[in-house]
Amino acid sequence: MVRHDEDAGIALLTGRFERFDPGEGAVELDLGCGSGSFTVALARRFPQKKILAADVMIGRLRKLVRHSHRDGVENIEILRVEARVLVARMLPDRSLDRIHLLCPDPWPKERHRGNRLLCSDFTTQLHRVLKENGIFHFSSDDENYCAAVGRILEASQLFEGCDEAIADVGDLTSDFEKRWREQGKAVWHRAWKRLALPRITIGH
Ligand SMILES: C[S@@+](CC[C@H](N)C(=O)[O-])C[C@H]1O[C@@H](n2cnc3c(N)ncnc32)[C@H](O)[C@@H]1O
Repeated sequence: MVRHDEDAGIALLTGRFERFDPGEGAVELDLGCGSGSFTVALARRFPQKKILAADVMIGRLRKLVRHSHRDGVENIEILRVEARVLVARMLPDRSLDRIHLLCPDPWPKERHRGNRLLCSDFTTQLHRVLKENGIFHFSSDDENYCAAVGRILEASQLFEGCDEAIADVGDLTSDFEKRWREQGKAVWHRAWKRLALPRITIGH
């Protein structure tokens, strides 16, 4: 891979051996952040929080580095990493206050459904890395995906609907949301709160 100046601001993680500890204090994760307009807006709104931005596409992350430098934002940590590897293998238990998964690829065709990021296995890992009462925020222009995510989370009994938990970011839009809205499409947002583990459990 040809190195670019922006790469100094991006941690390249494979997850093979590394753990990633975001540390103390309030932490939010923009998972599949893309070029990161939402990430930068979130970091500006909450300068006291650490904002993690994760994506696999290096070109988009480089754009995010340039954007955050332009805006003088210093509380974003940019990670090039596969989402499942980060969440399932690298992050410690109860380390995040809120996770945003905005406009992920919806894979609408039945035969591609297995490519969707949000599935029941991933739900348990989201639960593991969220702090008590932590929030999972999801958006999509695909109504079926949105409904499926709601069914998966609620069937898990690990989360309950809590749309009011994203009122403080209701006016912030991601790059893809802007694009869909310009095309006249609706984008749905939902949020769920992490519940305590049921008393009788086989664990995560
Ligand atoms: C449709 S874009 C949405 C980007 C951004 N959240 C937004 O709303 O503008 C989906 C993003 O997720 C990233 N992505 C897809 N699968 C991923 C994975 N398994 N791990 C990390 N990033 C992933 C893509 O590279 C892309 O930037």
